[in-house]
Amino acid sequence: MSLALIVLAAGKGTRMESDLPKVLHKIGGAPLLHHAMLPASALEPERIVVVTGHGAQAVETAARIFDESAMCVRQTEQLGTAHAVAQARGALDGLEGDAIVLYGDTPFITTETLEAMREARRAHDVVVLGFEARDPGRYGRLVMQGDTLERIVEYKDATDEERGITLCNSGVICADCGALFDLIDAVGNDNASGEYYLTDIIAIARARGLSATAVTCDEAETLGINSRAELAAAEAAFQTRARQTLIETGVQMQAPDTVFLSFDTTIGRDAEIEPNVVFAPGVTVESGARIRAFSHLEGAHVSRGATVGPYARLRPGAELAEDVHVGNFVEIKNAALDEGAKVNHLSYIGDADVGANSNIGAGTITCNYDGVMKHRTTIGRDVFIGSNTMLVAPVTVGDEAMTATSTTVTRDVPEGAMAIARCEQTNKPGFVRKFFAMLRAKKAGQAKG
Ligand code: UD1
Ligand code: CA
Repeated sequence: MSLALIVLAAGKGTRMESDLPKVLHKIGGAPLLHHAMLPASALEPERIVVVTGHGAQAVETAARIFDESAMCVRQTEQLGTAHAVAQARGALDGLEGDAIVLYGDTPFITTETLEAMREARRAHDVVVLGFEARDPGRYGRLVMQGDTLERIVEYKDATDEERGITLCNSGVICADCGALFDLIDAVGNDNASGEYYLTDIIAIARARGLSATAVTCDEAETLGINSRAELAAAEAAFQTRARQTLIETGVQMQAPDTVFLSFDTTIGRDAEIEPNVVFAPGVTVESGARIRAFSHLEGAHVSRGATVGPYARLRPGAELAEDVHVGNFVEIKNAALDEGAKVNHLSYIGDADVGANSNIGAGTITCNYDGVMKHRTTIGRDVFIGSNTMLVAPVTVGDEAMTATSTTVTRDVPEGAMAIARCEQTNKPGFVRKFFAMLRAKKAGQAKG
């Protein structure tokens, strides 16, 4: 049976105190919206509809980055969750099968939970995802009669007795798509908030003789983000889980609590991650590589046996082949280092190719930017770049060539050649003593005068 997703993301998120739409705030380097869509996308939905409102354009762009086929509909006025779902009607016209309603600000629902809801749908017309709340607070309450969900009552409209119920509504609902819109047609806004509550469809379904039930999950899954504090707590929860997953798959970490990961960080078995390492999005580290303390990696690939850091920075497009060494205070950007290449100290290698087993001396800089355009530096294999070499790109250094320390390379260096471009040294015998005597005499003269 085909499936549609309706993702509600029109809300303002007032309590975030931010100009950025709430669902675009990030955890693990990816917007909340993507986290919300990811587990459902594993169910291979036929159609995804994102309901946008506040910051619609930016939210729509983000939705399409996640899935270019995502359809976006706008809810210009936020009149409630039922009204939000109703906006998706046109986009789902003629779709046979189920719809799952999700919130864009609820990032931790798992695929397994959604599968359990679909399973429950075999026996029930409407399935709601509930959870036992430690502190039920202002959540909607699920009024059960055995396995049957009779209705959902919003906190504001609940009696004291109903507020005593601890089984709460997560907001996720699964029903036949056509039936869902039929039920929504009957929802009014005569309640404490004057909103069209999606939750009202349960009582309406029951009155029509349809069956409804609740599937439950752990409260941690249903965590919704409404404030910066909740965002920070969600980030912490994400990091804990991501570290745990890596540890379970054989990654060595001395101090996992100090390692920060992104949603897509991939690290192979027996790789070692020292303390205080940050993985921004787009990083892959192969088995047996070693990332030493205080390094920052983004959009980089580190192959087997390579060593990075301590205190290294790999920026997008850093491609390290096997057994490459990148040492302290080295920055690599958009550059490929071939097998066994070494850049051990204090260097910037950007827009460059470095051949196998070449050694880049301390303080070397690829001068890749002329103020307007970026240019490439190409270094062959088995090259020895002397310390403090400036490579003014575009420039090529041939295989087995060498540059003398402090050379500024502005022209290509042929294979096997030695390039030297620096002033010749002259020594002035006895100069220093005479020079300082002169300066001291001058100072004494000034003090008297
Ligand atoms: C809702 C549920 C409540 C549940 C809680 C779980 C209703 C009436 N109540 O309450 O039972 O316990 O979620 O967190 O459904 N949205 C729109 N357009 C709107 C209104 C909301 O897109 O017009 C979106 C919001 O951006 C948000 C989600 O729907 O992502 C939930 O809306 P919110 O106002 O936070 O609902 P709650 O009052 O928290
Ligand atoms: Ca909410």
